Amino acid sequence: MLLSVCLNPAVDITYRLATSLVAGDSHRVASVSERAGGKGVNVARVLHRLGARAEVLAPVGGANGRTVRTALAATGIAATLVDLRGETRRTVTAVDDASATVLNEPGPVVSPDELADLIRAYRGRLDGTGSDRVELVVLSGSLPPGLGPATYRTFTEIAEKQGIPVIVDAEGPALQLCLEARPYLVKPNLSEVARTLGEPVGTRTEIVASGRRLLGLGAQNAVISCGSDGLIAVTDDRAWRAVSSEVVSGNPTGAGDALVAALALGTARGEPWPQLLRTGVAWSAAAVASPLAGELDPSEADRLHAGVIVEEWEDGHAAGSRS
Ligand SMILES: Nc1ncnc2c1ncn2[C@@H]1O[C@H](COP(=O)(O)OP(=O)(O)OP(=O)(O)O)[C@@H](O)[C@H]1O
Ligand SMILES: [Mg+2]
Repeated sequence: MLLSVCLNPAVDITYRLATSLVAGDSHRVASVSERAGGKGVNVARVLHRLGARAEVLAPVGGANGRTVRTALAATGIAATLVDLRGETRRTVTAVDDASATVLNEPGPVVSPDELADLIRAYRGRLDGTGSDRVELVVLSGSLPPGLGPATYRTFTEIAEKQGIPVIVDAEGPALQLCLEARPYLVKPNLSEVARTLGEPVGTRTEIVASGRRLLGLGAQNAVISCGSDGLIAVTDDRAWRAVSSEVVSGNPTGAGDALVAALALGTARGEPWPQLLRTGVAWSAAAVASPLAGELDPSEADRLHAGVIVEEWEDGHAAGSRS
């Protein structure tokens, strides 16, 4: 079982507009869709869609929390949900022909006693045995108000001490502090790694160097995603670049979640790096092709898989081994 922790879940509401969005105007909405969201939920949804066993751990509260609970159950995604006094947030996306405008609510304040409840539930899940045994943890997305930047470090320490690998998709202080707990893998995108390390990251040599810095600060491995330019993976003694030979046009929001989902599954299965990176690029490219953030069509992922280029890198140059 792969456990995806989502500390700030949401009800994602998408309004399709009949006309172009104009700030200050009122608009007719052509259709409305509603689903459970938040990065950790999206990671679990991708895994579930691709046939892997994944479960969400999240705090939920109020009427929106009930909507998240019902929506997860309706999709068949297993969940350990911890009750909150506050109201789960909503995100509202207004989509017209040309663009998507997103409004993100901050989320409810999580109190210290509610954090203690969450950690108790988390420890409980990590103690599960048999077919319920958690093989890997994903920590992904923003922290709600009330939870300090050391929260992901605490969650990482608890799992890694039990020998359960942790993949972290975070940035800034939350990622920096988390590195001290030696997560198995971190997955920032280019601007997140630049913000976290406080230095510009542009060329491939700089990307590999920033991956090495993340390892120096405690990460066991780093995958830095570079949008349509694919990704760079840095391990103890090796580095790879992987990219889709086909640049996909569509909705890139949530591509990172599909990448994290593939990295989680491949890691739990003990796949070699080139293999799991190939799957990661294929799934994330397929997520771009899908209009809804974090959704993907498995047959599109299969089709894109064959066109992924994976090459080993040394000091920012291809080392010659390409597949
Ligand atoms: N236009 C594209 N065509 C093909 N693949 C893409 C494209 N855009 C992104 N990808 C794939 O998706 C992966 C993740 O993209 P990106 O670096 O934008 O993640 P992200 O910024 O973390 O996304 P998010 O946080 O919105 O989920 C990339 O490593 C790449 O493999
Ligand atoms: Mg991301």
